[in-house]
Amino acid sequence: MKVGDNYYVTVWADGQTVYMIDQTKLPYHFEIYQAENYLQTCEAIKNMVVRGAGAIGAAAGYAMAQACMEAPKTNYERFISRARQDIEATRPTAQNLFFATKEVYETGSRSAHKALEKARSLAEENIDEGRKIGAYGNTFIKDGSNIETHCNAGWLAFVDHGSALAPIYQAKREGKNIFVYADETRPRGQGARLTAWELKNEHIPHAIIADNAGAWLMAQGKIDMIIVGADRIAANGDVANKIGTLEKAVAAYHYGIPFYVTAPVSTIDFACKNGREIVIEERAKEEVLFQEGPNAQGDWHKISVSSPGSEALNPAFDVTPAQYISAIITEKGVVDPTPSQIQNLK
Ligand code: MRU
Repeated sequence: MKVGDNYYVTVWADGQTVYMIDQTKLPYHFEIYQAENYLQTCEAIKNMVVRGAGAIGAAAGYAMAQACMEAPKTNYERFISRARQDIEATRPTAQNLFFATKEVYETGSRSAHKALEKARSLAEENIDEGRKIGAYGNTFIKDGSNIETHCNAGWLAFVDHGSALAPIYQAKREGKNIFVYADETRPRGQGARLTAWELKNEHIPHAIIADNAGAWLMAQGKIDMIIVGADRIAANGDVANKIGTLEKAVAAYHYGIPFYVTAPVSTIDFACKNGREIVIEERAKEEVLFQEGPNAQGDWHKISVSSPGSEALNPAFDVTPAQYISAIITEKGVVDPTPSQIQNLK
C-alpha cells in the first residue's frame, strides 16, 4: 500500500537482511526495522515490531531463510533445525508462522540458496491472497454498509492488502459508500493505532470505538456486518483471533448481524480438530497495566493505567466457535465454517 507517495510492503528481504515496518512505532513514527540475522528477526516477531498472522508468517519464512544462510557448512542440519525451534517459539498461536517456517525449512534442508527464494515466493503469495480475499469479501459489502472490525487485519497484518480490511479497500475503490467502526483492541491498541491509521490513509470514513461499545452499537442497529481476520482456523471451523473477537461474535449472533472471518488457506490448521486444541498465547501483564505513546511534545512515554500492585492477565487471543461465524472468506472462495467445506480447501 502507499504511505505518502511510496509503495510499501510490511516485510521484505535483501540478501541476509530482513526489513520490516516497525509497527510498535506506528502511527506516530514511520520507521523501518532492520534484522541482520535470524535471531534479530525472532526478536522483532516476539516484540511485535512485525505482527498480524500473515506478516508474522512472512517474517518467519525470512527468518528461516536467514538461518539457512547463516548456518555453518559443518553443522548445517543441526543449526537450521535449532533455528526452526527458535522461530516457532516466538509466537504460538499464528498458524502462518508454523506454515512458513516449515515450508522454508524443508526447502532450506535441500539448498540454503533456495531458502530465500522460497521465503520470497511465500511473501508474494501472501500479497496475492490478500487481493483475492478482497475481491471475494467485497461481494458481501453493500453500498451504505456500516462495518465493524476488530484488531488490525489490514495490510500491516499481511505483506500487503490484508484480510479483513482487503474487502473494505475494494469496496471503497468501487465507490461504495461505507463506514468502519474500528474496535480499539486493548491492550496493544491495534485497532486504535493501526487500523485507524490504515483507514485514514485510504480516506475511508471511520470511528475508533472502545472495545466494550460494539454490542451497544449492534443493539441500536448501527452495524450491518462484522469482518475480522484469523490467526488460526481449526478443521471444524472454530477460529482463533485477537482477544475480544469472541464477544463480538456472540453479540452479532444475538442481533442477527453477519459475522465474516477472512483468512488465507495457510491460516487453516487442518491437523487441529477444534478450537480447544489451539494454543493461546499469554503475553506480559505489563501490556495491560501500562500504555505507551507520545505526549503532546512528541516524547515517548510509558504510563500506568491501573492500580499499582495489582496483577493482570493477558491472553492475546480467543476462540470463536464455528456456530457464530456466517462464512469464512479465503483466496480460494467463500466457505461455511463446517468440517467438510473446510476440508475442500486443502
Ligand atoms: O497480536 P497480533 O497483533 O499479531 O494479532 C494478530 C492480529 O492482528 C489479529 O488477531 C488479526 O485479526 C488476524 S491477523 C490477519
